[in-house]
Amino acid sequence: MTKEVQTRVLVLANQKGGVGKTTTAINLGTALAAIGEEVLIIDLDPQGNASTGLGIDRRTRTVSTYDVLIGERELLDVVLPTAVPRLHVAPSTLDLLGVELEISSHKDRTFKLRDAIARMSSNRHPDDPHFTYILVDCPPSLNLLTINALSAANSVVVPLQCEFFALEGLSQLLSTVEQVRKSLNPGLTIHGVVLTMFDARNSLASQVVADVREFMGDKVYDTVIPRNVRVSEAPSHGKPVLLYDLKCTGSQAYLKLASEVIQREHRLRAA
Ligand SMILES: Nc1ncnc2c1ncn2[C@@H]1O[C@H](COP(=O)(O)OP(=O)(O)O)[C@@H](O)[C@H]1O
Ligand SMILES: [Mg+2]
Repeated sequence: MTKEVQTRVLVLANQKGGVGKTTTAINLGTALAAIGEEVLIIDLDPQGNASTGLGIDRRTRTVSTYDVLIGERELLDVVLPTAVPRLHVAPSTLDLLGVELEISSHKDRTFKLRDAIARMSSNRHPDDPHFTYILVDCPPSLNLLTINALSAANSVVVPLQCEFFALEGLSQLLSTVEQVRKSLNPGLTIHGVVLTMFDARNSLASQVVADVREFMGDKVYDTVIPRNVRVSEAPSHGKPVLLYDLKCTGSQAYLKLASEVIQREHRLRAA
């Protein structure tokens, strides 16, 4: 029997809103699926933008990641297919806003997602999808939802918007990751920092890129995601930008990012 490829859990985290977490979850996920990976996007943001951007209508979300976190459903029970072959999503609903309160007294409250992923893997039937990548889209805060994601993760992908305050807040995120690594998830690593919404006409943006590279070194992916109107239009059509306009600069950048992510994974596995 050939050895099964292990599922890699990557978490998109940054406590700042509007930096490209959801956009990167959707489009990195789509690009990985296009390259042949079997991908699950887990939507842990009550806003549910990843679910909407993948064409999952709110009215059809009868079960969601909320039900998984409170222990009412298994993860695979809430997984839905998308228009992209090999790309699945576990959608979220606004119910997630209440989850923190509901599970705060549980001893395993930080491990709800980790344990649900582990059960999905160990109970997998031959017909079930075998996810090679799980991408978790986090809310813009370092709350219990994000802690659940970090506790379940192999690695963190940090989207950083190319703007003046980009580095502000990064050290807070890094120290949270470090705390989670020390107390909850010893194997947790930073996969990389992805610079998003780069605008070449803005001279400040190049300076930000240089600063972040100086601060984070080779943790920063070579691929920089350009600001591209097609990227921002796609979600209103319920489509990843790769389906909406494959040729646009945004789509091409996410394809490049996906191959970089896979290369880093191979290096990590070989190490
Ligand atoms: N590369 C890009 N080019 C243009 N607009 C973008 C790009 N990436 C993200 N956006 C837009 O910026 C906004 C914030 O992005 P989003 O991914 O929702 O951030 P977050 O999940 O971190 O809050 C959204 O309206 C999104 O469409
Ligand atoms: Mg988001």
